[in-house]
Amino acid sequence: MIQETIVTTQNGEGITHIAPMGIHVKGDSFIILPFRPSTTLNNFLETKVGVINYCDDVRVFAGCLTGRKDWPLKPAQEISGKVLDCALAHSEVIVASIEEDETRPKLFCKTLHTANHAPFKGFNRAQFSVLEAAILISRLDMLPLQKIESEINYLRIGLGKTAGERELEAWAWIMEVVDNHKRNVKT
Ligand SMILES: Cc1cc2nc3c(=O)[nH]c(=O)nc-3n(C[C@H](O)[C@H](O)[C@H](O)COP(=O)(O)O)c2cc1C
Repeated sequence: MIQETIVTTQNGEGITHIAPMGIHVKGDSFIILPFRPSTTLNNFLETKVGVINYCDDVRVFAGCLTGRKDWPLKPAQEISGKVLDCALAHSEVIVASIEEDETRPKLFCKTLHTANHAPFKGFNRAQFSVLEAAILISRLDMLPLQKIESEINYLRIGLGKTAGERELEAWAWIMEVVDNHKRNVKT
C-alpha cells in the first residue's frame, strides 16, 4: 500500500527539508522513492535518517508544492531530525539499504520510533481532492490542458460538498498555479 505522507529530512548542517512523498508501506518497513534530483534523497544519503509524518492538514501538501515550505516543527525523539507540529503521528526511520536507479532510487527504511499525537478523525473527500490536485500540479508540463481541466472539474465536486477552511485555503493555492499555467500555455 502507498500512504501519502510528509517526509522531513535534514542535511549535515541541520537544515530541515519538508516534502510530500508517497511511501510504500510493508509492515514496519517503508520504501521511499524520490525522483532525481531530490533534496530528500540527498539528505537521506548524507544523514541516513528522516521522519515520516502522518498529517491530515492538506495545506502542508499543497503548500510545499506552491512554495510555502515554512511549517512549524518540533524535535524528533530518537534521531537528529524534526517532526511536523501538525502531524497526527510520525515514524522516525533509518535507511537500511538502497536500490540504485537513475530516475527513482528506492530507499528501504526501518522504523526506529513511532509516536501518536492526535486522533485520526476519519476520511474527507475534500482532502482527497486537494491531494490529487497537488499531484496534478507537480506534473502540469506533462499533461494536456483539457486533461488538467477535466480532472480539476471532477475534484471540485468532493471539494464543494465537504471542504473545511483548511481544504479551501489549500485548494486556492493550487488553483493559482493552475490558472497561471493556463495563461502561459494560451499566450
Ligand atoms: C501527494 C504527493 C505525493 C508525492 N510523492 C512523491 C514521491 O513519492 N516521490 C517524489 O519524488 N515526489 C513526490 N511528490 C512530489 C514532491 O513532493 C515534490 O516534487 C518535491 O519537491 C520532491 O523533491 P525534493 O525531495 O527535492 O523536495 C509528491 C507530491 C504529492 C503532492
